[in-house]
Amino acid sequence: MHCRILGAPVQDGAGRKGCEMGPSALRVAGLVEALTDLGHTVDDLGTAAPAPVAPISHPNTALKALPEIAAWTAALAEASYRASDNAMPIFLGGDHAISAGTLAGIARRAAENRRPLFVLWLDAHTDFHTLDSTTSGNLHGVPLAYATGRPGFEGYFPPLAAAIDPARVCALGIRSVDPAERIALNEAGVTLYDMRAIDEHGISPLLRAFLERVAEAEGMLHVSLDVDFLDPSIAPAVGTTVPGGATLREAHLVMEMLSDSGLVTSLDLVELNPFLDERGRTATLMVDLTASLMGRRIMDRPTRSY
Ligand code: ARG
Ligand code: MN
Ligand code: MN
Ligand code: MN
Repeated sequence: MHCRILGAPVQDGAGRKGCEMGPSALRVAGLVEALTDLGHTVDDLGTAAPAPVAPISHPNTALKALPEIAAWTAALAEASYRASDNAMPIFLGGDHAISAGTLAGIARRAAENRRPLFVLWLDAHTDFHTLDSTTSGNLHGVPLAYATGRPGFEGYFPPLAAAIDPARVCALGIRSVDPAERIALNEAGVTLYDMRAIDEHGISPLLRAFLERVAEAEGMLHVSLDVDFLDPSIAPAVGTTVPGGATLREAHLVMEMLSDSGLVTSLDLVELNPFLDERGRTATLMVDLTASLMGRRIMDRPTRSY
């Protein structure tokens, strides 16, 4: 596989500073080496910069850093569109606001390729607020709503070349949903497997059902991995920890199943806040999970379970 790595040091979308250091920490933890060791070619595109910031005002006075995040979204939409040309882009956040841009650019690419785009959202949160519904005002809480074309972003975030069909989004690992998000998620028809579903059924049949849909439709698949998908006991370096997250074994299984499927066409690694890490363990885990997604195995043969 030919991979393109792009750093997106965005931190203004999160409530706590520090995600700006995320791309550096992922590189220090050996991301590029892990990919090349697996036989992939890696083109490191370096670090993205935001578009020029223009003042914007919005009636929701809770919103934080709207001009800055809008500027990043414009730049990352363009950058991700370009990076996805005949390569697998890996976007290094940065907080989850980067996915407003990465999803917008990948959706444009999918539309141009005439392929349906599916999204696997691995997160404690659904990030399905609109600019009007967020009460925290932290814009890492809105990217999925924006990219699926929910109303209220017009005139604030850049216009979408193509909106993602929310019926092609699967949110997995969810355990914190705000009331306004819950209403919007149901209305939009997002597939949502919360931690209760994972506890009851196990993670593999849930993911398998979604991957079958992607394969059936010959879709592209974007994976957005938020550090807080993982349980805080194994991944402390995130500002929005929620107890009861995915275990180390569940997370690796997800990555290995994704790898076996051969369906993943782009990846976000987001919300790593190195300031909150313990001797780099979370950065290292994110790199190890990426390696599993990109083909690292315990044995030198596929362990097929589906
Ligand atoms: N729903 C909460 C909010 O809007 C939390 C969002 C957390 N998002 C994230 N990408 N960590 O503030
Ligand atoms: Mn998130
Ligand atoms: Mn989250
Ligand atoms: Mn909220």
